[in-house]
Amino acid sequence: MALFIKNGEIVTADSRYVADIWCENETITTIGKNLPIPNHAEVIDATGKLVFPGFVDPHTHIYLHAMGTYAKDTYETGTIAALCGGTTTLIDFVNPGREEGSLEALEKWRQQTQNPCHDYTCHMTVSHFSDQVESELREVVKQGITSFKIFFAYKDILGMNDGDIYKTLSLAKSLGVVTTAHCENAHIIDIRQQQLVANKQLATKYHHESRPPILEAEGTHRLCVMSELIGGEVYVVHLSCEEALQKVLAAKMRGANIHAETLIQYLLLDKSHAELPNFEGAKYIMSPPLRDKKNQKILWNALQQGFLATVATDHAPFDWKQRQMGRDNFCNIPNGIPSLEDRVRLLYTHGVQAGNIDIHRFVDVASTRAAKIFGLFPQKGTIQVGSDADLVVYDPNCRQTISAKTHHMNIDYSVFEGYEVSGVCSTVTVRGNIQVRDGEFVGKKGIGKFLKRQQRIC
Ligand code: URP
Ligand code: ZN
Ligand code: ZN
Repeated sequence: MALFIKNGEIVTADSRYVADIWCENETITTIGKNLPIPNHAEVIDATGKLVFPGFVDPHTHIYLHAMGTYAKDTYETGTIAALCGGTTTLIDFVNPGREEGSLEALEKWRQQTQNPCHDYTCHMTVSHFSDQVESELREVVKQGITSFKIFFAYKDILGMNDGDIYKTLSLAKSLGVVTTAHCENAHIIDIRQQQLVANKQLATKYHHESRPPILEAEGTHRLCVMSELIGGEVYVVHLSCEEALQKVLAAKMRGANIHAETLIQYLLLDKSHAELPNFEGAKYIMSPPLRDKKNQKILWNALQQGFLATVATDHAPFDWKQRQMGRDNFCNIPNGIPSLEDRVRLLYTHGVQAGNIDIHRFVDVASTRAAKIFGLFPQKGTIQVGSDADLVVYDPNCRQTISAKTHHMNIDYSVFEGYEVSGVCSTVTVRGNIQVRDGEFVGKKGIGKFLKRQQRIC
């Protein structure tokens, strides 16, 4: 079926103009002013609305096992929620434990990707290194998974020692693969947590004390040093604070090939939320933790100036009952703040409308840059002839209020409850299929495809 989006204001990372978009066979076939409307096309009148490329979330956890429990979204609920908020591509994680092979974990993850409603791919976590791991990773890359994930954090679960990290980064460089990294010093966090527990400092507010900014900065610096030595491309996930950003900037100035992501949570929430009484703070526990509010303006400035590449969600939906696991000890709260559905509208409202970033940076950090870094561009992340017809017709004049009562994520609270956002995703398409109308899912379940990505040519 053909799709004709008429008279919208097309906004990409570097252009803005009014035109019609004609889509056929899943891709954008023609863009121009006053195009003839084909007889067989469904017409969407976008007059007075913005038309963005479908948004890309490069950091989600739809299938996530942590602390003996599983995150609550499925590929069906997660992708429906994402679409209602304008996200049309997500990059999830396959997290093999130390006893598990990468290929075995990949197969298990594939079993979970039932009924996706938009396209998706994954990063492959490396939790230890050996000849066997290396040969499996080579196969993983051949299957189109061209980004690895390493953890400096989470000492006994996924964290790797420096030697194994160095070997992983070297392999990634030789394969033309980008390595993403969670940068916090696991060993010191572990000791600080033991000390806090011994002192009966168990409330949610102590989470931040166990992992202060300087430990994130230290991990970030270690990643920068290794990537400089090896010359490999790296991507810092969920950068939360000025101290870590300084390490990235210094490494960039030395010539390191480094990108950094922040999260919508760090831009809008702060550590006082995790200190809320009556265990309410548990909803705000994630790692790295929400930081002092003074960091927010610094992160916004870094986004506008291009020092930070992307805004993701790190969507990790553990519900209120699961959060209770840590009622007596913050160390046992499953980490992560759900926000997959909210990212784009919050970023538009608090970024573009509030004057913190311009509209082209908005498209870049929420869509284009992630597509470029992770080998999806120009299939995803822009509006041009030949790109997938993943489009968001956005009505900036509509206002909505975020609430757990109305959101589509499979989670019984919202950390953004009551936040007003400017804009509704009036129409969202995935390869020309209309999946959302007036902010509600109306589309076909199961049309989402796994995206095979290319290695960098090196
Ligand atoms: O607290 C977080 N960020 N949870 C999800 C897992 C991770 O570290 O990304
Ligand atoms: Zn992480
Ligand atoms: Zn994460």
